Formats: sequence, structure tokens, C-alpha cells
Amino acid sequence: MPVAGYKLHLIFRLIILYSFAIPASSYVMELGPVNKLVRCPGLYCGRELFSNGSWSNCGACPRGYRTNASSACIKCNDSPKFYDWLYLGFMALLAFVLHWFFIDTTSKRRSFCKEVLVLHFSALFEVITAAVLTLLMTDPMGSLAVQSCQTEKLSDWYTLLHNPKPNYDKTLHCTQEAVYPLYTMVFIFYALCVVLMLVVRPWLAHFLPKHGRMSIYAALYFFPTLAVIHAVFGGLIYYSFPYIVIILSVISNAAHFAYKLDQSMRFLIVSTVTDIRNVVIILGHWLLHAYGIIAITELKDPVFHSALIALVPLPAVFYILTARFTDPNKLHAD
Ligand SMILES: *[C@@H]1O[C@H](CO)[C@@H](O)[C@H](O)[C@H]1NC(C)=O
Ligand SMILES: *[C@@H]1O[C@H](CO)[C@@H](O)[C@H](O)[C@H]1NC(C)=O
Repeated sequence: MPVAGYKLHLIFRLIILYSFAIPASSYVMELGPVNKLVRCPGLYCGRELFSNGSWSNCGACPRGYRTNASSACIKCNDSPKFYDWLYLGFMALLAFVLHWFFIDTTSKRRSFCKEVLVLHFSALFEVITAAVLTLLMTDPMGSLAVQSCQTEKLSDWYTLLHNPKPNYDKTLHCTQEAVYPLYTMVFIFYALCVVLMLVVRPWLAHFLPKHGRMSIYAALYFFPTLAVIHAVFGGLIYYSFPYIVIILSVISNAAHFAYKLDQSMRFLIVSTVTDIRNVVIILGHWLLHAYGIIAITELKDPVFHSALIALVPLPAVFYILTARFTDPNKLHAD
């Protein structure tokens, strides 16, 4: 065998040897209890500290705990950021706006009357009470403050999808609420809304026969729907809700005007200013636009970003100014 051929042969043997040896040695991880902290596989597996100073085996941290970079379960001591509060506010607002929308559509009235107003205020009362009760029930109990884990990335919402499979063997189950308590809080809030509604509304529906009942049925459909949407898309909504608020409120603002039979500029303005219901709907949309702008900017530059809020009437003004150009009857005028 020539010397060069022999060297090549040796190199190949070494490569083959190492390619088996390296993975075999580096992929065996310590998963059981240890005396000194050893990292666990996966983003969300951690070890708990025993009272005798050793660490438990790798697994899900208990509720209210989260792993740090070296896989120790650490108690969450953060409080929600401004953006987290805006997110929670958005989830409450969603319930509230849907209540008002269904009370308004099932009442089949084009203007406010006493019966419908009673229902609107009842919905407002239920949502606010449910929100306050939810805050009181989350850690620390009995206080409006919230103790939370800081949300760091999208996968924090979907720990179920990040169970590691160390040593290509059994899956290690480390599913936990890494965004504690933002995820469970919303479910508690929706459940409380439904309970409060079922307690309060029958009293009112007593003297408001038909509409009262229809809006309760609508709510019994949309709350479970909201809960499912939150369970599946919670993380995506957390990161995109400012844009969802703006887009939906602009669309609904246009839909509100588009339902008017007369699309002339004069009628749109006069009907908006003279009818209390229209004034409330338009102002409500402006508040939603403002909420979206605050959530996008987080008011990091207070002066400039508050000035942006002056833009909220724009979509309504734009619709009124351009409605006559988009009238389908005018498309084939000549
Ligand atoms: C510490 O306590 C745990 C359970 O309480 C036990 O499994 C472990 O063996 C103990 N470690 C030492 C070093 O005694
Ligand atoms: C994680 O927490 C443990 C226990 O408190 C600590 O010893 C370790 O240094 C922490 N690791 C990091 C990266 O902060």
C-alpha cells in the first residue's frame, strides 16, 4: 500500500470514529437529581432546589416559576409591563365591544332607548366587575397588583410545542405557563364574565322581554369562541393586537357609514352630529384608534406619540370626504 493511500485510509478511519464518538458522548444529558446545577435540555425544562441543597430532576417548573438560563426554576417576581397591561385591556375590551355590538344589533333600533341603555350599562358593569375580580384572584391574592413572569418571546406562549426529546428517547414533558399569569388570567376573566352575566341579566330581562334574551344568547356563543381563539392564538394576538385594534376599528368605522342609505357628504355629517347613537359609535371608534396608537408606540416618546393621537378622526373624515367618489352609480355615468 503506498504511503499516501495509507494516510488517507487513516484519516477516514479517524473521521468515522469521531463521527460516532462525538454525538454519543455529547448527547447523553444528566436528567436525574444532581448536587450541582446542571443544565436541562429544552427551553422550558428546569430543576427545583431541594431544602438539602441538591437539585431535582429535569421537568416542568411549578406554577408561578420559570427557568433561568442555567435551568433553575426561579419564582416569578416581575410585574406586568405597560404593554402587558394594554394586552389585558385589549382582551377585556374585546368582550366589552362584542357585548355592545350584539346588544345594539339584537335590539333592532336605530336610536337609543331606555331599555337598551340599561343593557349597555349592565354589560359595562359585568365586564368591569369581572376584570376587578380577576385581578383580585391572581397572585398576590386580594390585591390589584399582579406578579408575573416576563414574556420574552413567542414560544413562551406555546411551551407545549417545545418538549425536548433528549438522547432520542422518551419525550420530556416540560409544558408550563411561561407567561404566568397572562394566559390563565384571560380564561378566568371570560368565565367570570359569563357567570356575572347569567346572574345579573335575568333580573333585567324580566322587564325587557325579547332583546335582553337575544343578547345573552349571543354572549353565550361568543365567550367560548373567544376562549378558544385565546387558547390557540394567544401568543400571536399578544404580539399583533395593536395592529388588530387599528385595522378592525377602521373597517368597522367604514362599515358603520356604509350602512347609511344616503351616502352624500351632507347627510353623513348631519346624521353623525344629530343622533346620539351615531355620536357614541364614532367617539367609540376614535377611542379604539387611540388605544391602537398607544399600544403600537407604547408612548415611548410621550410628546410626539400623544400628538399622533390627534390623528384618530382621520378614517372617519376620509370616508366622508371620499364616499361620493366611490358611489357605484357614478362609475358608468358617461
Ligand atoms: C436531598 O433531598 C432529596 C429529596 O428530598 C433526595 O432525593 C436527595 O437524595 C437528597 N440529596 C442529598 C445529597 O441528600
Ligand atoms: C439561575 O439560578 C440559579 C439559582 O438561583 C443560580 O445559581 C444561577 O446562577 C442562575 N443562572 C443564571 C444564568 O442567572
